[in-house]
Amino acid sequence: MALWNSRFKKSLNETALKFSASIDIDGKLYNEDIDGSAAHVKMLVKQKIVSVADGKAILKALEEIRKEISSGKLNFDWRKEDIHSLIEERLVEKIGERGSSRFLSRRKLSEADAAEAGKRLHTARSRNDQVALDERLFMRKEITRLIKLTRTLQKVLLKKAEQYKSTIIPGYTHLQRAQPLLFAHHLLAYVSMLNRDVERLNDCMKRANRSPLGAAALAGTTLPIDRNYTAKLLGMNGIIENSLDAVSDRDVMIELISACSIIMMHLSRLSEELVLWNSQEFSFAQFDDSFATGSSLMPQKKNPDIAELIRGKVGRVYGALVGLLTVMKALPLAYNRDMQEDKFHLLEALNTTKDCLNIASELLKNTKFNKDRFERNLDGDFSLATELVDYLVRKNVPFRQAHHIVGSVVTLCVDQKKKLNELTLPEYKKISAAFDKDIFKLLTARSSVQNKRSQGSTSPAEVEKQLRFWKMRI
Ligand code: ARG
Repeated sequence: MALWNSRFKKSLNETALKFSASIDIDGKLYNEDIDGSAAHVKMLVKQKIVSVADGKAILKALEEIRKEISSGKLNFDWRKEDIHSLIEERLVEKIGERGSSRFLSRRKLSEADAAEAGKRLHTARSRNDQVALDERLFMRKEITRLIKLTRTLQKVLLKKAEQYKSTIIPGYTHLQRAQPLLFAHHLLAYVSMLNRDVERLNDCMKRANRSPLGAAALAGTTLPIDRNYTAKLLGMNGIIENSLDAVSDRDVMIELISACSIIMMHLSRLSEELVLWNSQEFSFAQFDDSFATGSSLMPQKKNPDIAELIRGKVGRVYGALVGLLTVMKALPLAYNRDMQEDKFHLLEALNTTKDCLNIASELLKNTKFNKDRFERNLDGDFSLATELVDYLVRKNVPFRQAHHIVGSVVTLCVDQKKKLNELTLPEYKKISAAFDKDIFKLLTARSSVQNKRSQGSTSPAEVEKQLRFWKMRI
């Protein structure tokens, strides 16, 4: 019979029970549920709401239940509705059995009292504040994992940046060649993006790690509980003050799924580049055979499925974000059963993001980059046109005019099917007298990168500075 069944003449219809059961999902939070209950009962004992002996019996049984679950002895029967009911029911059952044993009679407890101990655990608590607590404890653990995985990916990127420190690549905007970049600069951009992800997760942690416990159903309780004590026992940064807010809100969860969505968006951009770069057209990168797949029909194929799947799985996480936002939209305060759906979205987002972070690190570790191919055809390329503009600006030509002049140079090259370093000096001079023979040494990719001087630019010195900075931080 359900925990709440006392006022009903009938038990819940079986199809309705199956429909409303959530144990297949919230069962994953059993450790957090037990941790929360243990803290709760310690507080009840401290506040003399529950006797020391009852408290001990409850704590002991809770730990046994934890083992029963982890060893697979106690299975998740959907008839028990959710993990909270399952654990409480098992607790009452276990202590009830033991009430008549020598163990408790030695402690001079009356058998009847001892058997009742399990029924005292839920004093001054509702499943509403209980589930909100479990979720926060779970999120806390998962945030730590996400941060670790993100840090690992940053380290892989850093290592590659170190390895290909002098490699130059064509930098793109609109997927059109823009200006040369050091490959390390490109990789460090991802390190920096992922660092904001870590910051977002840390920030989310501050808000997640607050205790809603003691809010009871919504209004608090008449019993003399100590909310701060349970929060402290659980290592949380304090409580969520307003009891109604504590049980009604899921914004921290939405925040966490948003942080996951942004991580996934970053991973999708990395994946997309890897897919492109592994194409024969680009040939900038090559996945190790152990991270590529073939075709069932075309024997020559080497497909980038892993990167594509990371890109594809973003849909799950964005879906989870929109899913939970939609669950919460327009819900009146306080708890509504709709909110049980939250864990489905949370787990989907967390599992997918962790999986993708992990595989992205492995994939990248197992990718070789093709220095020669990256650097081929960069000298004299139109992606050096900006070097000429800056050259003219240094000769005091107003920028807009310089831009126009170099535009004419490019047009001439296009017409004559030449690269920038294939025009003659007289041809340059015909377009602008400000050009001199020293322009030719500007028309290599290496000099383009080397001549950058602004802070955070792709110059070897600045990239080295960034590399050192991140190596120290991560
Ligand atoms: N299984 C429920 C959930 O996850 C627990 C809270 C139930 N509360 C209630 N008032 N029915 O949301």
